[in-house]
Amino acid sequence: MENPLPKPTPNKVALVTGANKGIGLEICRRLLSSQRVTVVLTARDEGRGVAAVQKLRDSRATTGVFFHQLDVADSSSVASLADFVRAQFGKLDILVNNAGVLGRASETQGLAGESTNSLPAGETYEKAEECLETNYYGTKRVTEALIPLLLKSQSPRIVNISSYYGKLQRIPNEGIQKEIGDIDSLTEEKIDEMVRSFLNDFKEGKLRTNNWPARLSAYTVSKVAMSAYTRIIAKKYPAICTNCVQPGYVKTDLNANSGILSVEEGAEGPVMLALLPDGSPSGLFYDQTKVSSFVA
Ligand SMILES: NC(=O)c1ccc[n+]([C@@H]2O[C@H](COP(=O)([O-])OP(=O)(O)OC[C@H]3O[C@@H](n4cnc5c(N)ncnc54)[C@H](OP(=O)(O)O)[C@@H]3O)[C@@H](O)[C@H]2O)c1
Repeated sequence: MENPLPKPTPNKVALVTGANKGIGLEICRRLLSSQRVTVVLTARDEGRGVAAVQKLRDSRATTGVFFHQLDVADSSSVASLADFVRAQFGKLDILVNNAGVLGRASETQGLAGESTNSLPAGETYEKAEECLETNYYGTKRVTEALIPLLLKSQSPRIVNISSYYGKLQRIPNEGIQKEIGDIDSLTEEKIDEMVRSFLNDFKEGKLRTNNWPARLSAYTVSKVAMSAYTRIIAKKYPAICTNCVQPGYVKTDLNANSGILSVEEGAEGPVMLALLPDGSPSGLFYDQTKVSSFVA
């Protein structure tokens, strides 16, 4: 008797936030080209998201890409997305938390290197709040809503797009370094408390007194919070391989296209982490495709 044909491996389902352009769109393109992944491309603006999906369909003649609206700062939008994924697929294999903003009024200065500026250029309290709401609380909101669906996957992955600014040493405050750097005693409440005290110090004009970053302060705090949150999720859900990655200094609208890497190069690390084999380590900080350190 002939051997039965092998059963086709069902596609993995991946969801990428903030994917209408930049690194997020390239991550979708790369996941789709792996042929084994169905992609849910999400964007806060429906028109921009649908146009991005159409572009992918035109260039790849693929039907494996879906669009759903998602504003990570809006709880009802997050809930409606989770309902869509549950109804359409009943599970989620890969979540890429990519949506992000820079948190200052002018986005004309680049993201590379340190600055000697003593004041956070272009930053306002409103922009700082929006930055934390998007980059940190947005990541948390989406992750919490989708964890039940990730737990239905056989090989779940979470990839959080952090930054050069997402390493703990970018916050000079030693108390924060101690509190957030100790993984054994780290809790979500401690990360939330760091964010609250940063915003409070911003409002009260105490950023310098309390040793917060001298430039891109809200962006730095949001990405450090996101990197630390990655460690919490990895510890709390050992079944989900959860890592964060600094994609490099990539030419996108976020830095007024002043980056030095292409989006293709920037997407390399995130896509590698999204497709990590089973048994891979979790809770790590990657610098592009290499393991790095969150604290130093
Ligand atoms: N470019 C770099 O050098 C660099 C370096 C390190 C880390 N990163 C990180 O990489 C990620 C992608 O950035 P990028 O460089 O590709 O920048 P980008 O081209 O500006 O893309 C950012 C994406 O996030 C979306 N977004 C912003 N707020 C959102 C919200 N509330 N809900 C849903 N989507 C939202 C944007 O949507 P709209 O089009 O509607 O604004 C856009 O699709 C970010 O997390 C960024 O911090 C970038």
